[in-house]
Amino acid sequence: MLARTPPLGWNTWNTFSGDISEQLIRETADAFVGTGLKDAGYEYVVIDDLWQADERKDGRLTWDEGKFPEGIPALAAYVHSKGLKFGIYSCVGSYTCAGKPASYGYEEEDALTFAEWGVDFLKYDCCNVPPGVYAPAHYRRMGQALRRSGRPILYSICEWGHYSPWKWGASAGGQMWRTTGDINDSWDTIAEIGFKQQEGLHAYAGPGRWNDPDMLVVGMYGKGAVATEQSCTDAEYRSHFALWCLLAAPLMIGCDVRNMNETTRDLLTNRHLLDVNQDGLGLQARRIGDDLHGGETSHVFAKLLEDGSVAVGLFNVGDKDWRVMSIAWEALGLHDRLPCQLVDLWTGESLGVHERVFTAHVHSHDAMVVRVIPQPS
Ligand code: GLA
Repeated sequence: MLARTPPLGWNTWNTFSGDISEQLIRETADAFVGTGLKDAGYEYVVIDDLWQADERKDGRLTWDEGKFPEGIPALAAYVHSKGLKFGIYSCVGSYTCAGKPASYGYEEEDALTFAEWGVDFLKYDCCNVPPGVYAPAHYRRMGQALRRSGRPILYSICEWGHYSPWKWGASAGGQMWRTTGDINDSWDTIAEIGFKQQEGLHAYAGPGRWNDPDMLVVGMYGKGAVATEQSCTDAEYRSHFALWCLLAAPLMIGCDVRNMNETTRDLLTNRHLLDVNQDGLGLQARRIGDDLHGGETSHVFAKLLEDGSVAVGLFNVGDKDWRVMSIAWEALGLHDRLPCQLVDLWTGESLGVHERVFTAHVHSHDAMVVRVIPQPS
């Protein structure tokens, strides 16, 4: 099965937009190996829009020779030689969002081309759909073409949630589907997309079928294509990453991994959080309400894990310095007097055995993430 757990990788768009080249992709693949991202499980190196030549050649998509002088197949082979997988981008419409030739009416040809090039992942966007064309039907058509290509190609549907892809994405052959519009490097989009717009979607996620709240902006620090003037703080990046892990979201890194600082690298490779994201049960966290002290500035998310424990995120979205947040066993479906060990998922350290309730101080826009492990009697 493709994407039995949420896909982990990197995508050019958030930082580089059209400023891409084979050198960037090679250096990024090298950095996956050198920085420990590969060992942590990150696998897909994906080129987003603007890799294409302006015109098809003999009816086939082809690459921009200025950016990729040695060609896409050679680049895919390089990525494979590092033990990684290679991804590319097209659109369900006639042109991509950035105006390059796309796959409408060429689904079969393009799927075969991608398979021949050694592509392992296709992000399929939704711009420039001809009038009267029902996009979901054409997403399905590409899904079928990919299946017939004979190569296992992970299919990432990107129609921004317009046609409720969580309902039909898997039957169209997709393993993940964007649920929202584009993220940018600001706490506002993270909060809007992560806390609000995933509500109610948890029932649709599972092994081989993931809701995609868009790529990570962790570590961008105001640099790159989707930067904003209100670049996130480290606390906001922490909350963003923890929330995406709890949501069982695909984790597609968006920063320049060749130049990550230590804080970014440590966050993206945090084993305890990645284990929550990659848990075999494949459940997406549910918002289980505000914390015991109430108020709209706190969100509590819980994700049931395969070993019977629960991962819990306490998110303080308020602007005051810090607040006290608590989580009661009852809200997690656990018996009040059941002793549970708590593990701090930032550090992996035990916080001791507790009953009934756990309380923490959480700073503004930061999060406390714990694993609640019922103890044998
Ligand atoms: C859309 C997608 C983005 C990115 C760009 C490329 O906006 O949602 O993720 O792929 O197109 O043009």
